[in-house]
Amino acid sequence: MCDSKPLLGGHNRLPTIRHFPHRIVKKSNWILKPATLRKCVVAVIVFSIALIIIYSKQTRSPYLTRFMQRSNRPEPNIRCGVLNGPRIIQNHDHKTDARLRSYPKVLVFVETMYSKLGRDIAELLVHTRIKYKIEVAGKSLPVLTNLDKGRYGVIVFENFNRYLQIDNWNRELLDKYCREYSVGIIGFITPEEETFVGSQLKGFPLFIHTNLKLKDAALNPASQILRLTRAGETAWGELPGNDWTVFQANHSTYETLEWANRNDNFQNNDSGAKLPLPTVIQDHGLFDNIQRVIFGSGLKFWLHRLLFLDSLSYLSHGQLSLSLDRKFLVDIDDIFVGEVGTRLRQEDVKALINTQARIANMVPGFKFNLGFSGKYFHHGNNEEDKGDDLILENIDKFMWFSHMWNHQQPHLYDNLTSLMEDMVLNKNFAKDKGIPIDSGYSIAPHHSGVYPVHELLYTAWKKVWNIRVTSTEEYPHLRPARLRRGFIHRNIMVLPRQTCGLFTHTMLIDRYPGGREKLDESIQGGELFQTIVYNPINIFMTHMSNYGNDRLGLYTFESVIKFIQCWTNIKLSSAPPLQLAENYFKLYPGEADPVWGNPCDDPRHQKIWSRNKSCDSLPKFLVIGPQKTGTTALYTFLSLHPAIASNLPSPTTFEEIQFFNAHNYLRGLDWYMDFFPSDSNSSAHYYFEKSATYFDGELVPKRVHALLPHAKLITILISPARRAYSWYQHTKSHGDIIANNYSFHQVITASDTAPKPLRDLRNRCLNPGKYAQHLERWLTYFTPQSLHIIDGEELKSNPVDVMNELQKFLKITPFFNYTEHLRFDPKKGFFCQVVNGDHTKCLGRSKGRQYPPMEEKSLKYLQRYYLSHNTALVKLYKKNGIRTIPNWLKDDLSDKTDS
Ligand code: A3P
Repeated sequence: MCDSKPLLGGHNRLPTIRHFPHRIVKKSNWILKPATLRKCVVAVIVFSIALIIIYSKQTRSPYLTRFMQRSNRPEPNIRCGVLNGPRIIQNHDHKTDARLRSYPKVLVFVETMYSKLGRDIAELLVHTRIKYKIEVAGKSLPVLTNLDKGRYGVIVFENFNRYLQIDNWNRELLDKYCREYSVGIIGFITPEEETFVGSQLKGFPLFIHTNLKLKDAALNPASQILRLTRAGETAWGELPGNDWTVFQANHSTYETLEWANRNDNFQNNDSGAKLPLPTVIQDHGLFDNIQRVIFGSGLKFWLHRLLFLDSLSYLSHGQLSLSLDRKFLVDIDDIFVGEVGTRLRQEDVKALINTQARIANMVPGFKFNLGFSGKYFHHGNNEEDKGDDLILENIDKFMWFSHMWNHQQPHLYDNLTSLMEDMVLNKNFAKDKGIPIDSGYSIAPHHSGVYPVHELLYTAWKKVWNIRVTSTEEYPHLRPARLRRGFIHRNIMVLPRQTCGLFTHTMLIDRYPGGREKLDESIQGGELFQTIVYNPINIFMTHMSNYGNDRLGLYTFESVIKFIQCWTNIKLSSAPPLQLAENYFKLYPGEADPVWGNPCDDPRHQKIWSRNKSCDSLPKFLVIGPQKTGTTALYTFLSLHPAIASNLPSPTTFEEIQFFNAHNYLRGLDWYMDFFPSDSNSSAHYYFEKSATYFDGELVPKRVHALLPHAKLITILISPARRAYSWYQHTKSHGDIIANNYSFHQVITASDTAPKPLRDLRNRCLNPGKYAQHLERWLTYFTPQSLHIIDGEELKSNPVDVMNELQKFLKITPFFNYTEHLRFDPKKGFFCQVVNGDHTKCLGRSKGRQYPPMEEKSLKYLQRYYLSHNTALVKLYKKNGIRTIPNWLKDDLSDKTDS
């Protein structure tokens, strides 16, 4: 700090004062000595610099950070002895003939449904899309075989001890299964409070020492298990946790897969040298004919995740092998968008090009994919504008894709013309600068408009750019990343995008959220590394700002690629987005059809959803059918209620929208919501929809649950035999040729060798009546409390009571008195709506049709046919607390018994 002192006589360091004696001496008794003055000036300068630095740190001022960053810029130096050495892949695909004996599925025995390692295992299997079944250990064994094939290719024990302690009967059964079907076991030694030293694993010539702290793990390069994993380097440093188990074997059946050293001063052999200790071992099955891999610690250590996947591959005889090919693409978005001081200068562009060339040596076909918003071109300082120019001088070195002209989010456009106009501006910019415009790929700022879908964006993309591929992190949600998927909408392929840990504002390594260690951890075995290991196709999003300053984008990707090369046998390559998308949907054809989620259930989605859309425009309950049980009558009665409103009629399917079951679903959410216009003047606030074919639609419960997870569901059941007969009469009167050429009895008894159209008609007639089967599917997505089952016979005979019960179930107010609005019409033979005081308005002729009664032989046949389904229905009623079994169900079951 600057200090000032009173001038004392006789000071012997006055010479410098001589130059300005008058000014100093005469004015005051308080003057500054020259030396002090000098100190003062220096201090002020230092203080000011410190202040500016602090200020710039706080405010992220780009000017000073530029000045500070250089010395800290990280280099992609991955310690790896084998990086440039040959890759030796043992038994490349692990395939043996034994793989034909079981299905490619894993059976996982967990401690509880919530235990940590069990969850880690399940998540890893989800991430790698490996099929699995979870069982809580200690209960009885699940069924292991299906005809002559094993149901599971590998069995995993979260706690290997559980396997050792299974009662003799079940252990024999399980071991016999493993031997007969050549199925291997993976087990983890779970830490316990008590430490074991040299304890024998029950029944095996294997001894363990538990609760150790270890460091420096290395792999056995000769192990046959290694496939995805490469015995690269020693994983130097402390291993996570202080509860490791190490093994000591007394039999040639055991081979070490991984070793590590003790992380303390313990000397474990006579010479005082530390020997590495086996931490993962393979049991070749020489002892009891069952192959196993046993881990001395869970999946916290990243290398164990790779070894686990390789063990699955090895023990399943190659059935559960992941491909070794990985596609890798890095988008650099906003290549011209950024504040002055954060943009690329010429050196940054040169570094980008040089690193790209180095990466392309490791990843064939690699080019950075640059996204541009032309409006911000040349918006930097002089140096940065030269950077922009240098990028354009090297156009051919990169791939390119269009962003919005002004970086505006597409969901904010309500009008197609202005959205297209903005896109055209960017296209003109591209043409003007010679940027290629034919990649067929684009992305939207902040994922806006891609998902949740903004139809205008898809239309404009098609029209202006002929876009065929885009990518987003938001489908179905940002997190958890392992569930991210792709879909195709209106012929545009939407690929899942992966997260790499670089954000728009991560420009300096010192300011990386959580510190540099966090980024390095992600690269060296952590999230980023694992993302590439688990996903066959990886598209990462970065921003221009990640390539200036400390060039963290370059550091991150070059480092992670080196790490992948060091530790895995993965073959990385790159390709343009269109090619990646085609690959993706070839790999996962089942993902092509989207599953629309509810935008209001995800705050991130709500932010990128048009302000004109509202979840109020979605139904609160659905009448799901099945057909011919009285659904139209119920629909009509519900519509009388002042607080309830149905959808607008559909031009093609009349009162039914048929969204969730048919191709209408692919038209998208906006199409569906247009049937439920928000009308602030209407008192009706309960929207509902009735589509009778929802009941038995295979995909419907899943789709309804994704969009309307809190919806209530209403179904009506009558005797399935009578339902089938009514359906046949209905189909016949609609002029169906098959129904008109074959009697009802011929239809229902048609055999599997009958002509296809007849078999199809039979199936459509009979399948919806397998009530229990369909209800079970609904109940895997919805709780029994959200399902209301109406007895269709009661709806006919006593609709007022049915409607009163229903109002209670829906908790709808005001209570509507149906007694005044429904009256039995003797002519129609059904209840009808009361109009003008004493008249009735009944349903049309097609409802409550006149036709001859069903033949007795058909009734008997159907009662037998539906016997097991009706029995299952009674069980389902009881299981879900429905005490009153409808009379028709009792009759159907008892009539069968009589016959
Ligand atoms: P039938 O025409 O075979 O008698 P859906 O509307 O689901 O297609 O069901 C039609 C069935 O609803 C009719 O079958 C009829 O039995 C039954 N239904 C129940 N209540 C009715 C009502 N109030 N008016 C007319 N039909 C009714």
